Amino acid sequence: MNSNHVVVVTRKLPEAVEERLRRDYVPRLNPDDRLYTADELLALSDGADAIMPCHTEKLTADVIVRLPASVRAIANFSVGVDHVDLNAARDRGIVVTNTPDVLSDATAEIAMLCLLGAARRASEGERLVRSRKWKDWSPAFMVGLQITGKRLGIIGMGRVGQVVARRARGFGMQVHYHNRRRIDPALEQGATYHASLDDMLPLCSVLSLNCPATPETIGLMDSRRIGLLPDGAIVVNTARGALVDDDALIAALRSGKLYAAGLDVYNNEPEIHPEYRELNNTFLLPHIGSATRETRDAMGFRALDNLDAIFAGREPQDRVA
Ligand code: 8YV
Repeated sequence: MNSNHVVVVTRKLPEAVEERLRRDYVPRLNPDDRLYTADELLALSDGADAIMPCHTEKLTADVIVRLPASVRAIANFSVGVDHVDLNAARDRGIVVTNTPDVLSDATAEIAMLCLLGAARRASEGERLVRSRKWKDWSPAFMVGLQITGKRLGIIGMGRVGQVVARRARGFGMQVHYHNRRRIDPALEQGATYHASLDDMLPLCSVLSLNCPATPETIGLMDSRRIGLLPDGAIVVNTARGALVDDDALIAALRSGKLYAAGLDVYNNEPEIHPEYRELNNTFLLPHIGSATRETRDAMGFRALDNLDAIFAGREPQDRVA
C-alpha cells in the first residue's frame, strides 16, 4: 500500500520500520531522537493524519484537545497506554492502538533477569568485580536467595504475566496469580488463582508486577500491601513505576522487611527516586523490557499494521480507544 497520509513519528524507530514508513506513508521522522515538548509535538502534528508516539510522549487531555483536527489516529509504539488520555481521544474521535503480544517474551525475559538479579545480588556482585574490590572468596561471600522451589505471585496474568509464569516454572517456582478475573484454566498451567490480592500476598516469596497502570492499580503496592508480603520477600516490577509507592518500597527495602527489589520501571523516569540508587538490595534496569532488536521491529510493524487498517477503513486489531 502507498498513501499520502502524514504520520508524525515521535522517536527514532528501527531502520526497517522507518523504511516501511517511508514506503507507505509521508512520515515526519525524528532522526536525532530528540524528546519533543508537547508544544513541539502539536506544531509537528499540523496537517498530520496520525501520530506514532512512544510512552515518552505524554498525550494528556490538555494535549489531545489541542491536536489539529486532521489527526485521526494515535498508533502507539508500546503496549502500555497510560501516557495517553483515552477518554480525551475518544471525545475527539481519534482512534488509539497499542502493540500487545509482540513484546511479551522480551519483557518476561527482563522480569526473570530482575528476579534473578535481585535474588542473587547481581548488581552488588558486578560492582565488586568492576571496582576491583573483590578480594577473597568465602562460604559466606555474596550469599543470596535461591528461587528454585519458591512461590511466585504474579499481579496481572495477561500476556506478559503468562510468559513470566512459564519461565518461572522452568526455574522450579510455584506460581500464584491475582487478576481481575480468573484466566481460562487451560492457560493457567498449574498456576493458582487468587480472587483476593490480600489473600495472595502473604504467600509470595517473590512478587512480580505485570498489570497495566490504570486508576485502579496506581499506587497498588503501598505500605499496607507491602506489609502483607512475607518477611524477606522480593518485589519485581517490569510493568509501570506508578504501581508502586516508592517511599513505601524504599522503607521496606531499608528495614529488611523486603530482601530485595528488581526494577525496570519507575515513577517519573528517568528521574527516579534517588534512594533506589543508594540501596544495595536493588537491581535496577533503565526500562528495557522490550529492548531487543526482534521485539522493537515487531512493535513498529504492529503499530504500522494498525495504521494500515485504520487508513484502509478496517478495524485495527489493537484498538484501545
Ligand atoms: C516500550 C513499554 O519500550 O510497551 C510498553 O508499554 O513499556 C516498553 O516496553 C515503550 O513503552 C515504548 O514506547
